[in-house]
Amino acid sequence: MHQHLESTVLKASSCSDLQKCICAMLNRAVFALVSLSFAFVRAQNVTGLAPKKFLSLPLGSIKPAGWLHDQLLVQTNGLAGHERDFYDYVAQSDWIGGDSYYSSLEEAGSYWFNGMVPNGVLVDDPTIQAQTQQFLDYVLDHQDSTGWLGPEVNTTKPRYLWGRYPFFFGAIQMVEANPSLTDRVVSALYKFVALANTMLHDGEGLEDWTKTRWEDFVITLQWLYDFHPNGQEDILIDTMKMLKWTGDPWEDVFKQEYFPQEAVENLQNPFPVLTWHGVNMAEGLKALPATYRFTHNQSDLDAASLGWDLLFEYHGRPSGIYAADEYLAGLEAARGTELCLVVETMFSGSYLYQVIGDPKFADRVERITYNALPATLTGNMWSRQYLQQQNQIAAKNMTPDPFPTDGPYSNVFGLEPNYPCCTVNHPQGWPKFVSNAFVTTADQKSLVQVYLGPFSTNTTLASGNKVTVNVDTLYPFSDTLTATITAQKAFTHFVRIPSWVSNATISINGGSPRAVSPSNGLQAVSAKAGTTKFVLNLPSNITIESRPQGSVAVHRGPLHYAFDISRSQKVLAQNAEETQAVDLEFDATEAWQYAIDPSTLKFNSAVPTGDKLPSPIFDSGLPPFTITATACPVNWTIAGDTFAAAPPTSPACVGPTTDITLWPFGATKLRIGEFPTFEST
Ligand SMILES: *[C@@H]1O[C@H](CO)[C@@H](O)[C@H](O)[C@H]1NC(C)=O
Ligand SMILES: *[C@@H]1O[C@H](CO)[C@@H](O)[C@H](O)[C@H]1NC(C)=O
Ligand SMILES: *[C@@H]1O[C@H](CO)[C@@H](O)[C@H](O)[C@H]1NC(C)=O
Ligand SMILES: *[C@@H]1O[C@H](CO)[C@@H](O)[C@H](O)[C@H]1NC(C)=O
Ligand SMILES: *[C@@H]1O[C@H](CO)[C@@H](O)[C@H](O)[C@H]1NC(C)=O
Ligand SMILES: *[C@@H]1O[C@H](CO)[C@@H](O)[C@H](O)[C@H]1NC(C)=O
Repeated sequence: MHQHLESTVLKASSCSDLQKCICAMLNRAVFALVSLSFAFVRAQNVTGLAPKKFLSLPLGSIKPAGWLHDQLLVQTNGLAGHERDFYDYVAQSDWIGGDSYYSSLEEAGSYWFNGMVPNGVLVDDPTIQAQTQQFLDYVLDHQDSTGWLGPEVNTTKPRYLWGRYPFFFGAIQMVEANPSLTDRVVSALYKFVALANTMLHDGEGLEDWTKTRWEDFVITLQWLYDFHPNGQEDILIDTMKMLKWTGDPWEDVFKQEYFPQEAVENLQNPFPVLTWHGVNMAEGLKALPATYRFTHNQSDLDAASLGWDLLFEYHGRPSGIYAADEYLAGLEAARGTELCLVVETMFSGSYLYQVIGDPKFADRVERITYNALPATLTGNMWSRQYLQQQNQIAAKNMTPDPFPTDGPYSNVFGLEPNYPCCTVNHPQGWPKFVSNAFVTTADQKSLVQVYLGPFSTNTTLASGNKVTVNVDTLYPFSDTLTATITAQKAFTHFVRIPSWVSNATISINGGSPRAVSPSNGLQAVSAKAGTTKFVLNLPSNITIESRPQGSVAVHRGPLHYAFDISRSQKVLAQNAEETQAVDLEFDATEAWQYAIDPSTLKFNSAVPTGDKLPSPIFDSGLPPFTITATACPVNWTIAGDTFAAAPPTSPACVGPTTDITLWPFGATKLRIGEFPTFEST
């Protein structure tokens, strides 16, 4: 996921399908011309940026509660919270001047900052807050007289724009949490914008990675436009357009006619090759909703929505995420998903929901967060994978390697397996899920709970209406949420009802439960001045998802369920300075070759007394929800020595039936998530 290291493994971009390629280029040229000719008309008719459907709240307004607060503490006490103390790429005393490629704003510091700013604020951790403040101060204090931010000063290093974008997101979050930083950050950003605008007009600042990730700068410019326009609207809009029209054409990449319907290693990308790169695509999901804000063109939103659907249709995983073991990897369960793309897709999905308002984005972000994210880190969050597999029977150096473009060490749980990028980028996952869990409507009269889980929110709505909401729940390890709203004035509160819920009820102020009646996924609750309490009950059926080779995946509610293969553990490496940072090999210690009978699935709930979950929660045997299945052993081959071949289609049982237990996917580290089926008698 990092520009330079990865570019050494890229295949050359070529356009063997010349017709398709020329056609795409023509489309783009025509689009550009049309857009230019419309520019004058638009300038007269449509001013400014189109509004988002929902507005995010400033960092710190939404805090995690209950088990989710504990999860943030696990992250803080794990690898994420200790990187500044020992991890080379961000522990250098000279943040910005180091020669290391990974120093500071070229990538590592920038990613780290983007994730640790919200981490530090959400758990009120003074050590982490001091570290992020030091980073911000260093970067701002060393801004070059030209406006440049970063280490490419007094060197011959080329100045590429991208490495700064995650830093901008971190700086915006710092301002949200601490408005006294506004002037320093905003004036530094404007100096940089002036420079970047000139560079873009001069054809400078771009390389292949920057060209894919232009939307992250556009979103930063839109934050300036929305909150601190300072009379500079024209240069902001001009810079947005320059970024878009010098960048990769996401509106074409996400078109049905070009979208790859299988793993891409044998396909020719008609566009720059990096557009089918998993993380670029995860970040690029924001490109079209961001474009819409300055084009006001509904087609940009339609293309964004279709692209999202295509991505999951052809590369999706039951864990909620999609597969790209560097490049899009199709549907086969042994192929990999990079951790960086997990957290970037979560963030992009939150943004898509805020711009477009379609609840499908929120449903999927919640599934990714509660399944794919925890599955790819150890329970204590000290070790992380580069690639996770839907069916993962070992985590070890693999021979042969099932990933065409990533190395054999990619699914080891460790400090920096395969590439270091996800070590510094993964910390944004949980915190940004929390800070996007509530939004307001565009008129700021209503509060909307987007993600379900335990939170406390404190904000001021339109007309100075101070409100707080506390949500008490073990969700997703419970079907019940209790929310307590306090408000100075009456308002309409909304809460998302996920699409997988069946027969949901709501009970307000102790009244009898009545069926919910959501509109566009949102249930309205009339909150009075004073206190309003409501209880949501959100039961759901077990559902079966069809997967390749006639295999199936099991879901209930937001959670995906998998067979948790018991494992042995071997320490492959230990960091010399920080002994808790270990590389772990996991090997199966029991048979995993089972077919299940989907008609026998049974849900079991063992919610702990005192309503308190174990800490950490995402590890073997810990969650209170399980599903049992009647299973039988089948012949299922191992490919190489370390990964499961595709599930056999309609295999015969080779032994007696037995009951197996399926656990929430996020708690499994070795697993089968896609099973062959059989019919028990
Ligand atoms: C760059 O070099 C000039 C001249 O030697 C010096 O004045 C300036 O402080 C240097 N800038 C940085 C950021 O190191
Ligand atoms: C909106 O986008 C469509 C599809 O890209 C394009 O054909 C159309 O010209 C655009 N309209 C405007 C007003 O820019
Ligand atoms: C909400 O935030 C305001 C302003 O920061 C603070 O004064 C108030 O105590 C908070 N209320 C709650 C219930 O946390
Ligand atoms: C749950 O199952 C019931 C009975 O089979 C069905 O009526 C209902 O539509 C299902 N709900 C969902 C959300 O699939
Ligand atoms: C919802 O109600 C239907 C009809 O009463 C029932 O068959 C189904 O099991 C219920 N679903 C859940 C999840 O309780
Ligand atoms: C299962 O595999 C074993 C060993 O390859 C073979 O002997 C046996 O016939 C197979 N059984 C079935 C039912 O295919």
